[in-house]
Amino acid sequence: MSRALGPRASATAAASVPWTVLACCWSAVGLAMLGWAGARVAAWFSGGTTARSWWMFFKDVLAGRTTQAWPHTPTPLVAVCVAAVYLLAVGSGVAAWVIIQRRRPVPGDPVAALGDNPAITALTRSPVAQRATRLRPCLTGTNPRIEDIGLSLGRLMRQAGTGPEVFASWEDTLVACMAPRSGKTTVLAIPFVLSAPGAVIATSNKADLWAATATIRADQGSQVWLFDPQRITHQPQKWWWNPLAGLHTVEEADRLAGHFVLTVADDKKRDLWGPAAQDLLAALFLAAATSGGSLHDVGQWLAEPAVPTPIELLTKAGFAAMAVSLRGAQNGAVETRDGIYQTARTAARCLTDPDITAWVTPPRDRRLPSFSPDEFAASQDTLYLLSKSRSAAAPLIAALSDTAMRAAERRAERMGGRLDPPLAAVLDEAANICRIADLPDLYSHLGSRGITPVTILQSYEQGIGVWGEHGMAALWGAATIKIIGAGVDSPRLTRDLATLVGQHDVPVRSVSYSDGRASEQVSLRRQDILEPAAIRALPPGTALLLATGIKPALIRLTPWYAGPRSAEITECRDHAERAIRQAATAAARQWLEAS
Ligand SMILES: Nc1ncnc2c1ncn2[C@@H]1O[C@H](COP(=O)(O)OP(=O)(O)OP(=O)(O)O)[C@@H](O)[C@H]1O
Ligand SMILES: [Mg+2]
Repeated sequence: MSRALGPRASATAAASVPWTVLACCWSAVGLAMLGWAGARVAAWFSGGTTARSWWMFFKDVLAGRTTQAWPHTPTPLVAVCVAAVYLLAVGSGVAAWVIIQRRRPVPGDPVAALGDNPAITALTRSPVAQRATRLRPCLTGTNPRIEDIGLSLGRLMRQAGTGPEVFASWEDTLVACMAPRSGKTTVLAIPFVLSAPGAVIATSNKADLWAATATIRADQGSQVWLFDPQRITHQPQKWWWNPLAGLHTVEEADRLAGHFVLTVADDKKRDLWGPAAQDLLAALFLAAATSGGSLHDVGQWLAEPAVPTPIELLTKAGFAAMAVSLRGAQNGAVETRDGIYQTARTAARCLTDPDITAWVTPPRDRRLPSFSPDEFAASQDTLYLLSKSRSAAAPLIAALSDTAMRAAERRAERMGGRLDPPLAAVLDEAANICRIADLPDLYSHLGSRGITPVTILQSYEQGIGVWGEHGMAALWGAATIKIIGAGVDSPRLTRDLATLVGQHDVPVRSVSYSDGRASEQVSLRRQDILEPAAIRALPPGTALLLATGIKPALIRLTPWYAGPRSAEITECRDHAERAIRQAATAAARQWLEAS
């Protein structure tokens, strides 16, 4: 019969009679030497003497000849000093044992297995700083600040504490998956927004990201643009944006329409009528844009499927084929036409909400400035885009983020290939509020333009829900840095990650009983470094880091409230939250007075 004992040798199996005798002998020697050392300390204090060697001392003590063991030295002082030396020795021994235990590789320990990763040094400060100097000519000849070199991801996990800090460089593209309340905003979004050296696009479905960072960004000299059509922060509207400005081609119109159609929640309807609804919206956007119209016109044309105005405008603007296509949609079978128009109306339902359209149509107050994506791309401004999850305003968030990123791309091309300083697009809750239709394609080249996108999702499946199986796989594949945090519940993803993390050999001891005698063997078992269950159970504050060309690593994430700027951020957040409360109370009072 044989029974597995686990990877560690059992204490009883390791112990044997000769070793026990040897240990007892050496313990007696050690005790005697320490006692002699204690007595010598006492003699030094009192001006007395002790036996000349520890051996003589030991013999005198055993024979009860204390006056020979420590002549002219008070016995109580000797007792105190010896006790103190023993205590010191025991304390040091325990401390040493704890340190050794912590550093001792435990067979099968994933932290130890993943710690053996020399290539990960490419993500540490010095190599990333060198890379930043190459990518950003403005840093040449300077000693770059930590914010200039890249985005800090956390610290490598080691058996005893943590290792060096690791960074994403300015040519990386990031995807992060973490469950709700596991730190997406506190460990990723807030630190990234605050440390970005250039312009920032930050999306969120709550006020937390804006509250924690806006004032600090403003104090750093960055102009803050807050797009909050649903009054999540209760702040007044200070600007507007015309999505139709600069929209001159079918491709641009189609792209804008794509953001709207992607937010249709009904998957069946989206698959069946989506492409036709996208064509319809693209035609209406182009008709409005080329005739100096606004999104109000698009809303009206959507409500009246038979109106010929957009067809006439498209023909006049030289888009004959599109005009014919629109006429076809209007004159088709009634069920088909209604299906297309209804889907387009659902996709563009924000156009029926005056609170939302106020942000994207010419305002009554002509002094309200309009947002220019091109000027933003050339600035170090911060654009906050807030909307509740799956709300009607979500297509506008996606459209504005996309427009700003493409303006940055154009500027990068004009600058010779890369933006300097780089633009960080921190898309918190991307699947809920920032469904940029071709984000997977953008990922393949944004990094080379000095635009660093960070797509933060609650799960891999959430991404599939937006970009489809292939789209999400493309996004995942194109991301050079993937961060998988706590609460990944997808069995498929955890299994795939366990495969990617790899396997190692773990020694397994087993004991066999035969003829009344026990014998112990050690064998090697090949097993996953991180089992799917262990990946699922990653505790909050830790994450698996997958970087292109480098073995996976475990990192410890640093939330802003445990970082060096916590006091400053707390003050900024408290101030912003007070402002939200005051504005909300004033709005409620106004509403009560009006009703
Ligand atoms: N100042 C703070 N001090 C201590 N803990 C905090 C602080 N702020 C947030 N937390 C905690 O940090 C955890 C992560 O919060 P965070 O808002 O980052 O999660 P999230 O993943 O963004 O959540 P959601 O999906 O709701 O957006 C929460 O448990 C929260 O209570
Ligand atoms: Mg959050």
